[in-house]
Amino acid sequence: MSKRILLGITGSIAAYKALDIARLLRQDGHDVQIVATRNALRFFPRLNAEIFTGHPVYVDLFDSSGSVRHVELASHSDLILIAPASADFLSKMALGLADDLLSAICLSTNSPILVAPAMEENMYFHPAVRENMKTLLSRGIREIPPETGPLASGKDGTGRLASPDAVKSAILSVIEHTQTWKGVRVLVSAGPTHEPIDPVRFIGNRSSGKMGYALAAACASRGAAVTLVSGPANLLPPPGVTFRSITSARELEMEMGKAFPSHDICFMTAAVADYRVKDPLAGKKKKDGKVWTLALVENPDILSSLSRMKTSQQYLVGFAAETVLDPKKLLEKLRKKGADMLLANDVSQPGIGFSSDTNELTMCLPDGQVISLGRHPKTVLAEKILDAVEKWGTLPNLVSDHEPSAHARRPPRG
Ligand code: PMT
Repeated sequence: MSKRILLGITGSIAAYKALDIARLLRQDGHDVQIVATRNALRFFPRLNAEIFTGHPVYVDLFDSSGSVRHVELASHSDLILIAPASADFLSKMALGLADDLLSAICLSTNSPILVAPAMEENMYFHPAVRENMKTLLSRGIREIPPETGPLASGKDGTGRLASPDAVKSAILSVIEHTQTWKGVRVLVSAGPTHEPIDPVRFIGNRSSGKMGYALAAACASRGAAVTLVSGPANLLPPPGVTFRSITSARELEMEMGKAFPSHDICFMTAAVADYRVKDPLAGKKKKDGKVWTLALVENPDILSSLSRMKTSQQYLVGFAAETVLDPKKLLEKLRKKGADMLLANDVSQPGIGFSSDTNELTMCLPDGQVISLGRHPKTVLAEKILDAVEKWGTLPNLVSDHEPSAHARRPPRG
C-alpha cells in the first residue's frame, strides 16, 4: 500500500539519520517528500536528500510561483512524520505557531502526524517539553518514543532518535492497523515489583517496563481501550491509556484481579517478584555488625490465578524470563500457567530482555508450536505480538460495559 509521506526534518543532530528513514520508506514503495527547517539544513546534506527522494527539499514558506505551498503539501500527504522532532519544534507545534513551512503544514493538514523526538535526556524530560508533548498527544499526534543509549553529548540517556525499523513499524501500524482493535479491551501489566524489606529498602529486579509499555501503546494505536498496570518504571504512560500504578506483587495481584473480568485480552508482561519478605520491618534497619538474614515467602502466581478466572471469551498472554530456551520446558510452562500464548526471552543474553530497547522473543502456543518472532526493537516486537494474537488468538466483535465481549473467532491471516 504505497503512501505519500511528508518527512519533516528539524534542527537536531540526529537529522542525518532521517535519510536512512527516507531510504527505508522509499524501499517499501512510499513516495517521500522532505520538508526541512532552516536549522535542520545544518545537519544533513540537502542534495543527497533530493537524490534519495527524487523531490526537492522544501524549506521556505513562500515561493515565487504564486502557489500556496504549505496548503498543497499538507493536502497531498497521507501521513506526516517529523523525524527528528527537536524540543523547539515540538513546542512550536504545541503552541500552534506557523512561522515556517513545516509548522504551517502541521497546522494545515488533516492527515495523521507522527513525531519522533531526538534530544538530550534533560531536554526530553524537562517539564516544558513534557507538557507540550502531552498537549500534542491529546490532539491525536502520535509519538515514536526515543531510545536509550549514547547521546550527542557523549552521555548515556534517553533521547536517541528511534531506529529506522521502529519508525517504519510505527508508520505501518498507522497505515495498516488504524482502529482494527476498536472495541477490544486490553489489560497489560508491566515493569518490576518492589517487595519491601523496611521503609527504605526493597527486593526488585531490572525490568524497565519498556516491553509492556510498548504493547500498551501498540494496542492503543490500533484503537483498543487499554488499561496499563505498572510497577515502578521511569516511563511515561502511552497516551489514551488508563493507568494504574502498583508497587508490590500483592498490589499487582489485587489490581489485575479487579480489572481482568472486564477485559478481553491480557498481557502479563510484568516481572513479578516470586518472593517477598515474610515480615517487613516497620522502621529502618540500623547496622549492628551482625549477619542479617531475611525470611522470604512465595508470592501468589498472578498469571496462574488469572488463567483460573479466564472465560472462553478471554485471551491470556504470559511472558517467560529464562536463561535457557528449551522448547519442551517452555511448552510445559505454558500449560502449567494456563495461558493461551507464552512469549519467552533469554534474559541472560546481552542487549535483549530486561531494560534494553531491543528484545528477542520465542512464541509458544498450546498446540505445541514454537515460533521465533526474531530480534527487534520492543516497539516493533509489540506490533508482531499483536499480529500473532490476531492470527492465533481471538478478538471480540461486541463490547458491553460490564461483561467481557463475545468473540468471533477470526479466520487466520496469511
Ligand atoms: O520491562 P523490560 O525491561 O522491557 O523487560 C521485559 C521483560 C524481560 C520483563 C519481559 O519481556 C518479561 O519477560 N516479562 C516476564 C518476566 C517474568 O516474571 O517471567 P517469569 O518466567 O518469572 O514468569 C512467567 C510469567 O508469570 C510472566 O508472565 C509473569 O508476569 C508471571 N508471574 C510470575 C511470577 C508471579 N509470582 N506471578 C506471575 O504472574
